[in-house]
Amino acid sequence: SLETTLAIIKPDATRAGNIGHIVQRITDAGFRLRGMRLMHLTRQQAEGFYAVHRERSFFGELVDFMCSGPVVVMALEKEDAVRAWRDLMGPTNSKDAPKGTIRGDFGTDVGENAAHGSDSPENAVSEVAFFFATSDLL
Ligand code: CMP
Repeated sequence: SLETTLAIIKPDATRAGNIGHIVQRITDAGFRLRGMRLMHLTRQQAEGFYAVHRERSFFGELVDFMCSGPVVVMALEKEDAVRAWRDLMGPTNSKDAPKGTIRGDFGTDVGENAAHGSDSPENAVSEVAFFFATSDLL
């Protein structure tokens, strides 16, 4: 079904000058870009966004990294967008991600992995709402 998923270009990829390359791949893959913001997350925003990972050992490291520089937050629409965006990104750990995937080509490891995507249609709805008002979406 037609879904909107939440995508983030992470600080490693924005620092490396890869925003344009990643956006090009997204539009080439047939996603409709419904929303896009360049923003430097506060600690409070990063902790709120990743609240489900609060108890994980890597939570502090994850929040530090996500606040280390600007990110690009996007709402992407496509048939089965959640799965399609995860396929385009590749596996979480960039060391396991094939060349040709975004994490394989632009990421470094499990933390600095260039991009985020919602992991289910239910989470996609709440993650999109975390960053975008409906009136701001195309
Ligand atoms: P993301 O899709 O943004 O969702 C949660 C993130 O936690 C994940 O991508 C990884 O970048 C990060 N993550 C998962 N496991 C680890 C780990 N062991 N160390 C650091 N970061 C991790």
